[in-house]
Amino acid sequence: MGREFIDIFDEWIHLYDASVAGEDPEYRDVFEGYDEILNAVTSKVIGTILEFGTGTGNLTAKLIDAGHQVIGIEPNTAMRRLTAERFPSIEVNDGDLIDFETDGITIDSIASSYVFHHLTDEEKGIALKKYAQLLPINGKVVFADTIFITEDAKQAQIDKERARNFHNVADDLEREYYTVLPVLLKLFLEAGFEVTFKQLNDFVWLMDATKK
Ligand SMILES: C[S@@+](CC[C@H](N)C(=O)[O-])C[C@H]1O[C@@H](n2cnc3c(N)ncnc32)[C@H](O)[C@@H]1O
Repeated sequence: MGREFIDIFDEWIHLYDASVAGEDPEYRDVFEGYDEILNAVTSKVIGTILEFGTGTGNLTAKLIDAGHQVIGIEPNTAMRRLTAERFPSIEVNDGDLIDFETDGITIDSIASSYVFHHLTDEEKGIALKKYAQLLPINGKVVFADTIFITEDAKQAQIDKERARNFHNVADDLEREYYTVLPVLLKLFLEAGFEVTFKQLNDFVWLMDATKK
């Protein structure tokens, strides 16, 4: 579920790594500190990892380098092929944040960067409950993604992007399901997680959740 945006990545795949490197002025603030953001996710996970939305494989690379076994889940065919070619030793399966297979492998942590906003808030709640069933006690969900403190703060960011003619980012913020921190806090708690949030740049927060 949440696959309604995956075609966007057929085009973006060619420029994605340039975007995360800051070469697209519109997305520079979104990807500010990208490497440190991926490092922050990597520093919080434990054991065998299920990674959603592997994309070009940049978080995957860090997880593998840190010694983790990784199973990737990626719904976009071109992105999935890219990750699979970059890391022939790992499984990268077709699937999404809610519909996925782990092939019977025990998962200790679920990780992603710049992906969870593809689900509506209702779907985020469904996903987190599914993750709580999959993980052992003390298992982790560690996500980095754009979050806003309030709806007013989100609207202010959209207005700021429009004012500087960054309409691609503004349209993205209006089109996809970027949510607010109190909603996410409630969804994590209802699913049976303890969670902390840490802001990493103007857009992105680290969500570090542990199953109770
Ligand atoms: C912005 S990219 C992030 C890629 C990578 N994680 C990174 O940090 O650079 C989002 C990725 O999530 C994938 N994606 C989109 N919808 C998804 C869904 N519902 N479930 C899982 N992945 C999804 C896209 O195909 C794309 O590869």
